[in-house]
Amino acid sequence: MSWQEQIGAACDLDALESIRVELFGKKGYFPAQFAKMKSIPNEEKKAFADGLNKEKAELEAAFEAKKTALEGAALAAEIDKERVDLSLFSHLEPAGAIHPISHTMNEMIEYFTSMNFSLQTGPLVEDDFHNFEALNLPQHHPAREMQDTFYFKDEKLMRTHTSPVQIRYMKAMKPPFRMIAPGAVFRRDYDMTHTPMFHQIEGLVVDEAHKVSFANLKYILEHFLTHFFGDVKVRFRPSFFPFTEPSSEVDISCVFCGGDGCRVCKQTGWIEVLGCGMVDPNVFKAVGYENVSGYAFGMGIERFAMLKHRISDLRAMYEGDLDLLEQFK
Ligand code: DAH
Repeated sequence: MSWQEQIGAACDLDALESIRVELFGKKGYFPAQFAKMKSIPNEEKKAFADGLNKEKAELEAAFEAKKTALEGAALAAEIDKERVDLSLFSHLEPAGAIHPISHTMNEMIEYFTSMNFSLQTGPLVEDDFHNFEALNLPQHHPAREMQDTFYFKDEKLMRTHTSPVQIRYMKAMKPPFRMIAPGAVFRRDYDMTHTPMFHQIEGLVVDEAHKVSFANLKYILEHFLTHFFGDVKVRFRPSFFPFTEPSSEVDISCVFCGGDGCRVCKQTGWIEVLGCGMVDPNVFKAVGYENVSGYAFGMGIERFAMLKHRISDLRAMYEGDLDLLEQFK
């Protein structure tokens, strides 16, 4: 192989380097050739030197060209090795999602705080006074049977509704105010539509006597329900709660059948969503309020979540069922 061919065939920079040593190194081809000059007759020296210099210049050029090419290839290989292909999906960690109950609760809180209601909380372990007595549910009142209570040995109990937060708040504050109190409540119940723990939002508005009316209550609840559920009809039905007088239960037109009647609304076209009323004078008396008026309401958060997202079995919400939860991403 000629030198040119050898340079051309060098497969990497190491191979090229050994050719360089053979050609241009101290003991290489060119020093040996130039050494021959001494023994060449004077008249031939110039031709010999010219030929040798030309050959050397050509091989140097070939060497440099080959070196540049090999370095370029080495760099390209290096870059190729380090390249990150951003178009490829790597392993994705499963992403979490807000639980439908939290999501619904946040949406409800957002509405009422935007209407200037302050956000309050109260203890989950309550006493008889705050959970029943002060709410006009004295010992042996038949209405106590509406709620199956978890009792502790020492007279304490798990709150059965968020209404005791009304009492704690009224004792600590002076009207006028508007507040909501969301949180967990507990009852001895377990079936398709009941779990031993669920969530409610309580609402309470109190101001001077005659400043708060049933019309105010009706307006805000109608506004809230159509805001939350969209295009539904709202109806107030006379009812009874010990802590309100008059009391009302509120229905919306069935979100499943649009009010025509179906299995879910038991062919009535209506679904009950909350309880409310004007605060009973006995409740104001229990917290030492005089010359005031107010309204209160209470609603179950799970019920709102189920109606909004068309979930039929309440228990599914508490079973960590990924098929259900992943729909809320
Ligand atoms: N505390 C009631 C319950 O647990 C709900 C309720 C009804 C709350 C009427 C109220 C109200 O504040 O006015 O079922």
